[in-house]
Amino acid sequence: HIVPVILAGGVGSRLWPLSRSRYPKQCIDLQGAGDSLLQATLKRCAITNEAPVLLCNEEHRFLIAEQARAIGVTPKSILLEPEGKNTAPAIAAAAWMLAQEQPEAIMLVLPSDHVISDANLFGAKVAQGAELAAAGDLVTFGIEPSEPETGYGYIRAATGEEVSAVAEFVEKPSLEKATAYVADGNYLWNSGMFMFRADAYLRELAAFEPEIHALTQAALSEAQTDLTFTRLAAEPFSRLQSISIDYAVMERTDRAQVVRFPAIWNDVGSWSALWSISQPDADNNVLRGDALTVDCHNTLIHSQSRLVTAVGVDDLVIVETDDAVMVTRADRAQEVKKIVDKLARAG
Ligand code: GDD
Ligand code: MG
Repeated sequence: HIVPVILAGGVGSRLWPLSRSRYPKQCIDLQGAGDSLLQATLKRCAITNEAPVLLCNEEHRFLIAEQARAIGVTPKSILLEPEGKNTAPAIAAAAWMLAQEQPEAIMLVLPSDHVISDANLFGAKVAQGAELAAAGDLVTFGIEPSEPETGYGYIRAATGEEVSAVAEFVEKPSLEKATAYVADGNYLWNSGMFMFRADAYLRELAAFEPEIHALTQAALSEAQTDLTFTRLAAEPFSRLQSISIDYAVMERTDRAQVVRFPAIWNDVGSWSALWSISQPDADNNVLRGDALTVDCHNTLIHSQSRLVTAVGVDDLVIVETDDAVMVTRADRAQEVKKIVDKLARAG
């Protein structure tokens, strides 16, 4: 059995104002293709023939449940986290749940907010990963890096083979290190997708983060279930540290394997990443919705409800929604996150 476990707890603050705490990035149809990123992820998972487990926060439960329903997916469960504690605890809760039924169940842990262009290749790679996972290893999927991006984890494969042991895993290195890794040629980006048996993940967690191991077991055993929603118990959950699987387990384990994943993959984390999955016009503009330009270049306009026009400007990102407009230089689009932080502080 391969059970998809979908991480749908993020917000995607670098895509503000399109992504909102009430309407997170994974629920948006970023590609303009009819499905949200979450829905596209769920459709890709059909290859496993198993109902997925979804992990999200309380606030998004109806939105997420409705998006699954709309494409005919009935989740095995929607696990609700009382607060965001990042991915290590979330995945642990799902592991405890699956281990109750079958400790050796293979979890296919997937972010809900990525674009993967080649669904067939995805299926083939998952099949490769399943063999390693069945043996008790922790499987990552490695992407050939194209630039020293510091927002990713870096994996040094022990060999150049398609499937290899992981010699080193470094989560979000400095720019200096990332530059050296890309030049080195033996490093891959961690795609953020993982595969392992439920008991294998719990075994590693017990070794490296015994508190998370114990508190997530308590959070699940005291959980309350109504319909498809399982609410993890708030008290043990509140005592958890907030840490991602990458720092908690992947950097430390010696049981990691990497499967090379040569697909076009994108963590559409920011406006510039959205650019790279779009088809620009002759002036290298990306125009979405009701937008019109005269003599503009390298400009992305995303309009949701009104006509947006621009004349004679270059290298801008302009995003219009019902209640907010955001304009930034394209090379500073990552910093939109600062607006979100500032708004949060202002209440
Ligand atoms: N349920 C739940 N709860 N989901 C969460 C939580 C949480 O507390 N926090 C994050 N997520 C979800 C996000 O929505 C996303 O789908 C996924 O988990 C990964 O979290 P990110 O916050 O997007 O991680 P990242 O992009 O900084 O880094 C990870 O992904 C990179 C590739 O995109 C790491 O695994 C890196 O090593 C990797 O390169
Ligand atoms: Mg991400």
